[in-house]
Amino acid sequence: MRIDIVTIFPTFFDVLDISLLGKARTNGLIELGVHDLRDYTHDRHRTVDDTPYGGGAGMVMKPEPWGEVLDTLLDSGSADRAEGSDPLVIFPSPAGEVFTQAMARSLADEEQLVFGCGRYEGIDQRVFDHVATRARVKLVSMGDYVLNGGEVAVMAMIEAIGRLVPGVVGNPASLVEESHENGLLEYPSYTKPAEWRGLEVPPILLSGNHGAIAKWRHEQQVERTRRVRPDLLADDGAVPL
Ligand code: ADE
Repeated sequence: MRIDIVTIFPTFFDVLDISLLGKARTNGLIELGVHDLRDYTHDRHRTVDDTPYGGGAGMVMKPEPWGEVLDTLLDSGSADRAEGSDPLVIFPSPAGEVFTQAMARSLADEEQLVFGCGRYEGIDQRVFDHVATRARVKLVSMGDYVLNGGEVAVMAMIEAIGRLVPGVVGNPASLVEESHENGLLEYPSYTKPAEWRGLEVPPILLSGNHGAIAKWRHEQQVERTRRVRPDLLADDGAVPL
């Protein structure tokens, strides 16, 4: 998978050198390019923002640098892309569709993802309108709260998507039994010692009875989901299979 990020804070993404995603890059499973939006400006101050037409507080990101960087990114990969597979350009935004595990799964199947990190009061609307003529565009929100810019949201998305790219996580079974994979929150986990500070591991986990353990874990998932995230269950409280 090829991932490109456009940002005015390129060093923010230096941490993608470490951990599982760093290894995935070394192994060639994920190719990453981080692009400084200011490199696509042509004035002495490398200006990326200006006052909003119509008035109002804050600044809006200018269309020209975005146009130039997106031209470069969308044109450069076009020769390698299979016919009919438009690249996907994602702009993190509190006004977007909420990011979910299902979305992460679907994005992990893409050949190329381009992330555009907005700052200030947002990006000139014509950038979205223009890029939509040559790529698929998605506005994605991390939730109902406001961040100062898209960088943190993009980092979270790349981590969630990257670990689902085949080969990135060593043991694929570990991707199955976790929160949201079956529509439920994950069950509690324990390791040795069997007793710690007077707290015991639930005896069923020491029983060796795999059927009973699986049943207990599922019950824990359902109980936790009902208590913490009833919105994940159907209106009638039915549990996803
Ligand atoms: N940028 C600012 N707030 C955001 C949010 N909640 N999700 C994604 N991008 C954002």
